[in-house]
Amino acid sequence: MPAFTAITPPGLEPVTLRELAALGVEGRIEPGGVRFEGALALAGLAARLRSPGRLLLEVARGRTCTLEQLAALVRGGDWRSLLRPGDGVEVSATARHSRLHLRDAVERKVKHAVQDVAGRPRDRGGATQRVQVRLVDDVATVSVDAGGELLHRRGWRLATAKAPLRENLAAAMLLAAGWEGDEALLDPFCGAGTIPIEGARLAMGLPPGEGRDYGFRTWPGLASGAGPARPAPPRALAVPVVGADRDPGAVRASTENAARARVAVDWRHVELSALEAPAPVGLVATNPPYGHRVGGEDAGGAYALLGRALRGPWAGWRAIFLAPTAELARKVDRRAERLTTFENGGIPVGLWVVPGRG
Ligand SMILES: C[S@@+](CC[C@H](N)C(=O)[O-])C[C@H]1O[C@@H](n2cnc3c(N)ncnc32)[C@H](O)[C@@H]1O
Repeated sequence: MPAFTAITPPGLEPVTLRELAALGVEGRIEPGGVRFEGALALAGLAARLRSPGRLLLEVARGRTCTLEQLAALVRGGDWRSLLRPGDGVEVSATARHSRLHLRDAVERKVKHAVQDVAGRPRDRGGATQRVQVRLVDDVATVSVDAGGELLHRRGWRLATAKAPLRENLAAAMLLAAGWEGDEALLDPFCGAGTIPIEGARLAMGLPPGEGRDYGFRTWPGLASGAGPARPAPPRALAVPVVGADRDPGAVRASTENAARARVAVDWRHVELSALEAPAPVGLVATNPPYGHRVGGEDAGGAYALLGRALRGPWAGWRAIFLAPTAELARKVDRRAERLTTFENGGIPVGLWVVPGRG
């Protein structure tokens, strides 16, 4: 039976496990991913899952100590159900504790072995499938990327502001908070609008991507319209979703991104201390400036401002936010609890929650 792995930043695997479970798929956590088995049509989840960075389908796995053994392993894969005659293939390899450690040689060998089965690419017009080879302790795992391009590239976030958060991490924050769109949402440090836009699409039941393509869409082994049960039609947004930032460029980027994502978010150009909450209760989900990447900003000050708002005018609101240190998180609230830690742009950050005071 086809085996898939939803690749996710280490620390966020339980979020992806729950996201899969909500779609009726039972998985198993592995470091950096969630593995599950099922029909080839589950590749269609690449267009539905919000928290993973990639969805890989395992095509071949086995012990390989020479390039010839590797080529034989690859040739045993069912490539004809993944590539149409004439489609191209792009291979990337990683190796750890393995005799085959020359990436270029491994990538070339695998590409030729796939083409031995699926045929040589034509000059133009074909799709390109992305193949990944992972060698660990002389065991090769050869997978094809059901998404093609990284899944966090949703297609709508073309405008960015300072230190943007990957879209799948924004979605993971909302899923970790258990936010389902029935409670107001507010991001007072919205930057390019990633968290509110992810939230609005989630609440409306819109798929995460807009105007992008997925590798699985051209797989010959899948009937057209492949995927698990069809998603329900989109719903109207039933709660206020607000994004605010003191930087006018950030508000402009958010507005442009939201138009591309086809969601109606209430954008406000305002400094946090002057921001009014749109409802008496709700979820604040935010990625405050850490001080690392957002040059010159007073990170401690931003966390303290957030804390003051949550103790004062936004007292009914609960919060989920990122903070690189416990010291910064406790500036928001001494009751802050860390759900997990993961890397954001190479920086380890905690995912912290604070309950409402209402
Ligand atoms: C780390 S960025 C947020 C990135 C965002 N999550 C995204 O994906 O684009 C922090 C943002 O907070 C804004 N900011 C910093 N201090 C602020 C304040 N006191 N009031 C409002 N916005 C503030 C900055 O202008 C910046 O856009």
